[in-house]
Amino acid sequence: MTTCTHRIAPSLLAADFARLGDELRQVIAAGADWIHFDVMDNHYVPNLTFGPMVCEALRRHAVKADGTRVPIDVHLMVQPVDALAQAFAQAGADWISFHPDASTHVDRTLQLIHDAGCKAGLVFNPAAPVDALEWVLDKVDLLLVMSVNPGFGGQGFIDSALRKLERLRRMIDASGRDIRLEVDGGIKVDNIRRAADAGADTFVAGSAIFGQSDYRAVITAMRERLAQADR
Ligand code: DX5
Ligand code: ZN
Repeated sequence: MTTCTHRIAPSLLAADFARLGDELRQVIAAGADWIHFDVMDNHYVPNLTFGPMVCEALRRHAVKADGTRVPIDVHLMVQPVDALAQAFAQAGADWISFHPDASTHVDRTLQLIHDAGCKAGLVFNPAAPVDALEWVLDKVDLLLVMSVNPGFGGQGFIDSALRKLERLRRMIDASGRDIRLEVDGGIKVDNIRRAADAGADTFVAGSAIFGQSDYRAVITAMRERLAQADR
């Protein structure tokens, strides 16, 4: 794996909600590749964050200085899924991922995300099996391994996520398809390389980045660790 395939996706969940636009622009200026947008509904998870209107308001600010669009990576922790997935597609999301256990008809949900013009992902909780993949691996663009239980930022990394990443990396490589493998929860400078070694290529980090005053320093340190993983 080469360094250029790695993506760092800061999670706005850990940003200052009173200054979301500024935080978005700052973290993009600091080198963010994607923006991770954690949607919680106080039903599938015991917390409540932001919806499609906030995504739409932020969308036009998600650009680099040279005008390049920064992908918005929507992580839906909601149930039911379909109507909100379509609303986020309308709101300018690029990637939309959902938990298969939150959707009654996983195949249909993947299809409607694609029909809305977005890339589609499946998310696996720490204790969730990956069985759903057997019949839909050819229809996903991204797999997201939760390394914490969903609902809150700032939790500790659950080590079994590494074994799940290894297993999914083998499945992706065997499929020959272009599928991103993302890890989410408790990612820090000190453990990002372990996740990369296990096969992850896309790294969500909330508190590790927004919890420090110098976002660029954290993102740069993460990239340095990822570059070591390539050697
Ligand atoms: C948890 C969210 C994660 C989390 C990441 O439900 O999906 O994106 O906020 O935050 P940290 O990096 O602080 O664990
Ligand atoms: Zn997330």
